[in-house]
Amino acid sequence: MLEELPVSAWKGPYDAALKARAVSSLERGAVLFFPGLAFALADAEKPFLDAGVSDGRAKNISLERGKIQSSSLTGEKAKALTAMMERFGSHAANLVHDLLPYAQVERARTSFRPVQVKGRRYSKINDDRLLHIDAFPSRPMRGRRILRFFANVAPDAPRHWRVGEPFEDFAKKFLPRVGPHFAGKSWLLGTLGVTHGRRSLYDELMLSLHDTVKLDASYQQNGPRQDIEFPPGSCWLVFSDQVLHAAMGGEFALEQTFHLDVSELTEPGRAPVKVLERLSGKTLV
Ligand code: SIN
Ligand code: FE
Repeated sequence: MLEELPVSAWKGPYDAALKARAVSSLERGAVLFFPGLAFALADAEKPFLDAGVSDGRAKNISLERGKIQSSSLTGEKAKALTAMMERFGSHAANLVHDLLPYAQVERARTSFRPVQVKGRRYSKINDDRLLHIDAFPSRPMRGRRILRFFANVAPDAPRHWRVGEPFEDFAKKFLPRVGPHFAGKSWLLGTLGVTHGRRSLYDELMLSLHDTVKLDASYQQNGPRQDIEFPPGSCWLVFSDQVLHAAMGGEFALEQTFHLDVSELTEPGRAPVKVLERLSGKTLV
């Protein structure tokens, strides 16, 4: 479930055996754990370790196309935070590029998570302390993968995660419970511009699975799971559309999201879209 890798540099070349172990573990649903890889903050960046840099509305500060959103900072301070997130994103992109065999990996959003996870209040659907797979209402993936790289930049607190059972076991339990899906709804949302492009059946199914598992109190309490602590100064990488996960506690993490096509994978049959197509007998994209 947790595959520990002795990586301490943000750029390769990495050892061939290490790379082979990384890709096969990752695609099989392990969390790649880098205990010796720390994202260092400059002294001038340390004041950003403060929940007050968030605007208090969104849970994360995001960086996309060079602009940050949901931060209370302005002027030079906003510029310096943008630069820190940008540096993290390019480090993460170098590592993913040099460690994994994928030719086409799209660097998507970067986020900074400055708010203590414990004690936050959210609706169940938005509560990432409940086990879930990632699926986003406004971002149809049409089968493409969601790969996320995290760094714990807190000075002393671990980030506490919970990881659930393998995707296929989870899907076998929950697929029979998700509601019917209407192609017309996706078409309508796409046409109205609510979503960036049209949702596929795959997206509808993944959203339903995300919601259904979060709303199942008994599964959340008694379902198979393992608790993990990522210490300060460590990083981890995971296919978050495949690995059931929950963030239970911790403060100050950085995260970089990547998207890639299923055809890039060494074992495409393990992708959620392929597993769901096999289990449902339907073409989903
Ligand atoms: C999540 O992706 O569900 C939250 C992960 C985190 O913030 O540690
Ligand atoms: Fe998540």
